[in-house]
Amino acid sequence: MTIGVFTSGGDAPGMNACIRSIVRTACLSGHATLGILRGYEGMIDGDVVELVSHSVSSIIQKGGTILKSARSDRFLTVEGRRLAADQIREAGIDGLVAIGGDGTLAGASAFYEEHGIPCVACPGTIDNDLFGTDETIGFDTAINTALASIDRIRDTADAHNRLFLIEVMGRDAGFIAAHSGLAGGAEMVLIPETDSNIADVKTRIHKLMTEHRRSSIVVVAEGDELGGAGDIADVLRADDQFKDIELRVCVLGHTQRGGSPTARDRVLASRLGKHAVEALINGEFSVMAGVVNNELVLTPFDVIRSQKKNINYEIIELSEMIS
Ligand code: F6P
Repeated sequence: MTIGVFTSGGDAPGMNACIRSIVRTACLSGHATLGILRGYEGMIDGDVVELVSHSVSSIIQKGGTILKSARSDRFLTVEGRRLAADQIREAGIDGLVAIGGDGTLAGASAFYEEHGIPCVACPGTIDNDLFGTDETIGFDTAINTALASIDRIRDTADAHNRLFLIEVMGRDAGFIAAHSGLAGGAEMVLIPETDSNIADVKTRIHKLMTEHRRSSIVVVAEGDELGGAGDIADVLRADDQFKDIELRVCVLGHTQRGGSPTARDRVLASRLGKHAVEALINGEFSVMAGVVNNELVLTPFDVIRSQKKNINYEIIELSEMIS
């Protein structure tokens, strides 16, 4: 068969390792692979390249994605998906392996329902917010990247006894904040999954900064209901009781999306890529490859999209308890 592989949505370190595994697994079992550039956007435009074993040499260590990625508004439309289906058929692609997050899975589900084009997915997002896998490709690298910055900020925060609000990515999920916060010894972690009350947050921060007379780090997920780190800082600065507390904000932003993938992400991406190709070859579709309790699993798209992956609150509690 001919397998079309693409990356979609926000890129994540380890996507290249996954592409490499997909292409090499397919080649080793006698199947052809075509790379679709720029995700669903490139699919609509018929932007396709041949991938052979040596096309994926020396990419396992690289961040980003050699296939490029995009968020496609056109694929959200019936007409866009019809154009994409025409291109897939014209290229002779029999099935797809998609690497991406929840938007990618939603697109693949609609595509199968309307055009019957089979797809198996690999979870690629730094946010780790996909049910059906304990970890997504890119998460480990992202938390280590965030942690490296948190450690550096701790040095300067300590030197000045300052309060730092550090914003990490996570529009709808607090996995990056929870894990980098605990690993970085953060005094407080604010995430979208918990109800944050500004009065309570103010009291806790004030106590930290006055009773302990030392630096404090609050890690804020960008999607926290109180807003980002900048919004929270504005509220604190407007309050007289914080006038003697030196406060700084640091938004880590897209630094968390780049960089060479960690060993853990490379291993995960390689295992998931192989598992996805084997599933497609065996006639499975509309499933995502994942790792649960270190076992490779396949979970149907509709199950993944109807379930929210739970954050481990023990991590947040522990972070604040032992800081
Ligand atoms: O989906 C991953 C993610 O990194 C989110 O955490 C973040 O909110 C978003 O992508 C940013 O997307 P973009 O790069 O398209 O602005």
